[in-house]
Amino acid sequence: MRVVQIGICGLGTVGSGVYEILKRNGGLISSRANCAIEVTHVGARRDHPNCDTQSTRVSRDVFDVAKDPDIDIVVELIGGTSVAFDLVMMSINNGKHVVTANKALIAENGAEIFAAAAQRGVTVAYEAAVAGGIPIIKVLREGLAGNQINWLAGIINGTSNFILSEMASKQREFADVLKEAQEKGYAEADPTFDIEGVDAAHKLAILASIAFAMPLNIEDIYMEGITQLQPCDVTYAADLGYVIKHLGVARQTTEGVELRVHPTLVPVSCLLAGVNDVLNAVMIHSDALGSSLFYGRGAGSEPTASSVIADIVDISRVIDNPPSTWVSALGCQLEALDAPKMVPMECVETCFYLRFAMRDTPGALSDATKILAETSISIEAIVQKEQPAGADFVDVIVVTDRVREAECKQAVSQIEALSTVHGSVVTIRLERLDD
Ligand SMILES: NC(=O)c1ccc[n+]([C@@H]2O[C@H](COP(=O)([O-])OP(=O)(O)OC[C@H]3O[C@@H](n4cnc5c(N)ncnc54)[C@H](OP(=O)(O)O)[C@@H]3O)[C@@H](O)[C@H]2O)c1
Repeated sequence: MRVVQIGICGLGTVGSGVYEILKRNGGLISSRANCAIEVTHVGARRDHPNCDTQSTRVSRDVFDVAKDPDIDIVVELIGGTSVAFDLVMMSINNGKHVVTANKALIAENGAEIFAAAAQRGVTVAYEAAVAGGIPIIKVLREGLAGNQINWLAGIINGTSNFILSEMASKQREFADVLKEAQEKGYAEADPTFDIEGVDAAHKLAILASIAFAMPLNIEDIYMEGITQLQPCDVTYAADLGYVIKHLGVARQTTEGVELRVHPTLVPVSCLLAGVNDVLNAVMIHSDALGSSLFYGRGAGSEPTASSVIADIVDISRVIDNPPSTWVSALGCQLEALDAPKMVPMECVETCFYLRFAMRDTPGALSDATKILAETSISIEAIVQKEQPAGADFVDVIVVTDRVREAECKQAVSQIEALSTVHGSVVTIRLERLDD
């Protein structure tokens, strides 16, 4: 049997999972790949407590793996964009195929990496970079190859989803849940990338590049995290039949492509509303299939390793095998693509949830609704909460019909200027995800 030699760089959470699964399920995986897949070199600064590398060669310098002439596939699992970039580029230049789970690396440096890989005739595969164990890259690249993608919306950051789920089910404060997420290892000591939407934006850039055959584009993604969300908005949204989720949305419109990451109200009847805890899900709407939902573990050692190994198997099937055995040739399909027209955030059209504190005096509410009417914003629902004892203001919640971002902003600034309105208007976008 043909032998494909694997070099794993980084023996942390994901690296150790890949090593262990390849050991545990090696026979099965090799029979599926129609070749023996063997880890023959590991690059790790130190040993992993739960990973016995046995007789496998271990180098403390990961670059030794990229230089090893026997290695066919280098698996980059160290993370970050500096050493990982140099490692991937060296591997490519040395004629090795690369598998990575590194979304930041692909989103930020993908164009350069894919161009180098195309020139050298090798593949860079990155299934685990988006939604961990859910094979969403394969879905877009292969399963939906015959479809035009109209839009996709994903819960693609488990940390944010855990925080929002806890806020909704237990009426907890953001900071309190974040602390628990850090204690449970769901969030990093520095959680900025997760809670400010950067991680989700990296993943959205990758999904959109495949869905719309466009270059990776992180700069044009509108990004808003979950740090400003108040428990009362989670409760009011629930009262109105919505759940707040942090979504990555990519939509093809007649005016161009929208790319955005932000908290979003979704109807409680929408399948995404039921995706809780650290789980991920991506909903795709395409012309032939219609709506489809892909759901599962978006992180963790073995779920992520599952996707890494799927890439290893795909590449192993292709290396030296006759084309008749190929399931799919993993192309470096992202290079040399024309950038589509992007829709600026000001022109994006969504529904909105608005909340403002208003003095409960005659005519105050009609002043606010008049502003909305004059800006041609239709109201789907409006609720004026009861005035709490001793409070000067009542909360007013408005759910609008679809309106352009710029028009909504204009109306919001006029409402904020009313003498009866106190403070800023809380504004959260709302997606029905039903067409
Ligand atoms: N964890 C997940 O659930 C998950 C899900 C999807 C994607 N990913 C991606 O998978 C990649 C790996 O994540 P992870 O969670 O496995 O991270 P991790 O647990 O921190 O493991 C990274 C490993 O790489 C090693 N490393 C870092 N820099 C190195 C260097 N210069 N030389 C040699 N070794 C180096 C670290 O060594 P030390 O132990 O010595 O620091 C550590 O063992 C990242 O790109 C991440 O975004 C992770």
